[in-house]
Amino acid sequence: MYQKFIITLIIISSSLAHDVKSSNETGHISFGVSQTGLEFTKNLMIKTAISNLIPLNLPDIEQSVQIPLVGKVKMVVSNIVIYDVEVVKSVVQSGDMGLTIVASGATADLRFDWSYTYSTWFFDISDSGVASVKVEGMEIGLTLGLKNEQGTLRVSPLDCGCYVNYLSIVLDGGASWLYQGIVDFFSEDIAYAVEDTITDKVKEAVIQLDSVIQSLPKQVSFGDTAALNVTITDGPIMSSTSLLIGIDGLFTQIGNEVTSGRSGNSLLSSGSVCNNPMKMVAISVHEDVLNSASLVYFNANKISWIVDNLPDQKLLNTSGWRFIIPKLYKQFPNDGMSLNFTILSPPTIKVENEGIVATVKSDVFINVLDAGKVIPVACITMDIEASGFAGISSNTLAGGINLSKLTMSLKWSNIGTLHMTLVQTAMSTLLKKIIVPVVNLRLRVGYTIPDFHGYGLQNTSIIYGDSKIIVCSDVAQIYEYVPHRILS
Ligand SMILES: *[C@@H]1O[C@H](CO)[C@@H](O)[C@H](O)[C@H]1NC(C)=O
Ligand SMILES: *[C@@H]1O[C@H](CO)[C@@H](O)[C@H](O)[C@H]1NC(C)=O
Ligand SMILES: *[C@@H]1O[C@H](CO)[C@@H](O)[C@H](O)[C@H]1NC(C)=O
Ligand SMILES: *[C@@H]1O[C@H](CO)[C@@H](O)[C@H](O)[C@H]1NC(C)=O
Ligand SMILES: *[C@@H]1O[C@H](CO)[C@@H](O)[C@H](O)[C@H]1NC(C)=O
Ligand SMILES: *[C@@H]1O[C@H](CO)[C@@H](O)[C@H](O)[C@H]1NC(C)=O
Repeated sequence: MYQKFIITLIIISSSLAHDVKSSNETGHISFGVSQTGLEFTKNLMIKTAISNLIPLNLPDIEQSVQIPLVGKVKMVVSNIVIYDVEVVKSVVQSGDMGLTIVASGATADLRFDWSYTYSTWFFDISDSGVASVKVEGMEIGLTLGLKNEQGTLRVSPLDCGCYVNYLSIVLDGGASWLYQGIVDFFSEDIAYAVEDTITDKVKEAVIQLDSVIQSLPKQVSFGDTAALNVTITDGPIMSSTSLLIGIDGLFTQIGNEVTSGRSGNSLLSSGSVCNNPMKMVAISVHEDVLNSASLVYFNANKISWIVDNLPDQKLLNTSGWRFIIPKLYKQFPNDGMSLNFTILSPPTIKVENEGIVATVKSDVFINVLDAGKVIPVACITMDIEASGFAGISSNTLAGGINLSKLTMSLKWSNIGTLHMTLVQTAMSTLLKKIIVPVVNLRLRVGYTIPDFHGYGLQNTSIIYGDSKIIVCSDVAQIYEYVPHRILS
């Protein structure tokens, strides 16, 4: 029920890194929401609030009233239900205190059961029926306080009110005196009941939302190796046009609480900006985030990659290396081969103006597969530098890499001295023509970005520079989310 609220909050928590002054933040991922994003969020919140609120039951109202010519009548208005609310106009304003949302000119439709009893000298008289009420010119305002309490976002209803301007009642049946009686004696009570109940419910919803947020974990797991620390470190910072929040954003290894490289880079301070201020959200990711992931995966796996199957299998046959390493062919003629790329240290990742640059230091073991045995015959140390870029199209993150630099040296060899220039040329061809295309094939297919209950990124652009990747995007509904699809 409150999922959409949370998403909304997540969206709110993302803001454009405009006009934020430098401070000592430590967050590595920051989210910004622009005014356009706040408008979207507000509309979503109002839509969610209404669908969560209605049907809304109001307490019964009872009155004993003196009606001219009839006498003392006991009237009861019960089963009062607001079954529809419409908001014509609404505004959102972010400020020091929080977010203020005002819905004005709202209308509500209610229905209720009426009944009355009174006694004459001879009889007890009673009657009952239904009535409908139209509430017009209703104004509902909420100031949502947002603050960071020990790394968790707290929301509170700082100020909340509802005001009913005008209300019209239509009775279905009943005596004519009853109509005036209900209007005279109940319309104010009904208006107050509407005002009080809506105010209470909105407050209640915010408090419930807060408890849902409190129950969220401070880490988000990625598979069973890495977890992203989502502790809030900066903000929320609210200006009149945007909202900004920063999270720790570094990866830690699950089951191993030690994190290194917590350098305290400031994301918010440098005022990263989307080229297009109309974009709803900006998400800024520092290269430290990528490096922390690199470190975690490296520590967890001591990454090594065996290449024993290539489209051009000649390259994995000693005969293919006959003229480059003659001694290899002489010692192991026509044998199969494999290459064992073992990464020696966590790949370092830098975000430059042109894109992402990854540097990997690896040992490549050249193995010969001879009579079912794997015989390492030589080892080459390689420094590989690859540049890459990423793009987001609908809900897919895709990209590509290019080999930009390759240096290598021989570590040891059982097959004599290698002509490193020849080996380098061969390896470089292998990487460029075979390995990079294989990696790119996977990257081009891309990875699906999870949607938030039907909402996803749209019109996304990615900007690189200043050690950061900045994703600028709109948010849109990509499908209708049905929360209880499985149950119903
Ligand atoms: C950052 O922190 C240092 C020491 O804690 C302080 O001297 C400096 O003024 C702070 N800078 C900002 C911009 O707050
Ligand atoms: C998560 O980040 C916060 C703030 O930077 C830090 O204090 C906390 O130790 C981190 N938690 C883990 C498990 O690394
Ligand atoms: C290596 O290549 C030679 C010549 O093409 C072939 O006879 C031999 O079967 C190949 N060895 C393996 C293990 O594929
Ligand atoms: C690859 O090389 C590393 C480092 O020597 C070694 O630990 C690993 O077992 C090798 N993998 C295979 C499948 O040969
Ligand atoms: C790789 O380089 C080629 C030629 O310079 C270029 O056309 C291509 O777009 C680059 N690809 C990536 C993924 O950077
Ligand atoms: C995406 O961009 C197009 C063209 O600028 C615009 O019409 C559309 O509304 C945008 N989508 C969202 C969700 O803002």
